[in-house]
Amino acid sequence: MPGSAGRDASAYGVGVAFARCDDGYTPDVHEAAETRETREAGEAGVASGATEAMEATEAKLTLTVDGSARTVTVDTRTSLLDALRERLGVTSPKKGCDHGQCGACTVLLDGRRTLSCLSLAVAQQGRDVVTASGLDDSGDLHPMQEAFVEHDALQCGYCTPGQICSAVGVLEEAAAGHPSLVTDPDVPAGSAVPLTDDEIRERMSGNLCRCGAYVDIVAAIRDVAAQRPPVPSR
Ligand code: FES
Ligand code: FES
Repeated sequence: MPGSAGRDASAYGVGVAFARCDDGYTPDVHEAAETRETREAGEAGVASGATEAMEATEAKLTLTVDGSARTVTVDTRTSLLDALRERLGVTSPKKGCDHGQCGACTVLLDGRRTLSCLSLAVAQQGRDVVTASGLDDSGDLHPMQEAFVEHDALQCGYCTPGQICSAVGVLEEAAAGHPSLVTDPDVPAGSAVPLTDDEIRERMSGNLCRCGAYVDIVAAIRDVAAQRPPVPSR
């Protein structure tokens, strides 16, 4: 039996004798304190590691959006569509499927039509993004927008910004001589491809319209295509 500072722990069903340390606490109290400190240090380490990992997944990028330089910090997994809509408040490109299947999110990236839902924002550092809202920086409607209005080429309008950006891209692709699946093989390589209705339908086939405004969309694009050379976007 230890001295007055200790006691037999057998009374607690534990086969060891407790003895008080110099500071008056028993060894199990010290052990518990050490265990708690070790656990807290471990948790702090995990928390700091998590913060570092979080910081490591963010990136700052600068884009030109509809003519204005915009800087934003995003999670590196953010799509260009989400960066535009959720972080920069540019809501012209629409989220339809978020899987590259509907074309509602189409923007012009350095002049070429692109599905922004399938593009990582961080991969676009320094690039020029034009949405349907920024096609004409004079404050007027772009000729393609006017044609859509004149031909009543929309109903709910949800797909329309993507349709218009895509249509502007189509004009420039055809003028640059890019062939499509239905291009007449007699068109010389590199020559401008005439935009027949079949060409328009084929080239616009990635832009779906749930309202079924296809006939008027083709008519609108046909009208603008007749104004060769194509009107550049910006
Ligand atoms: S939202 Fe991008 S293709 Fe549908
Ligand atoms: S106008 Fe409604 S989805 Fe195209």
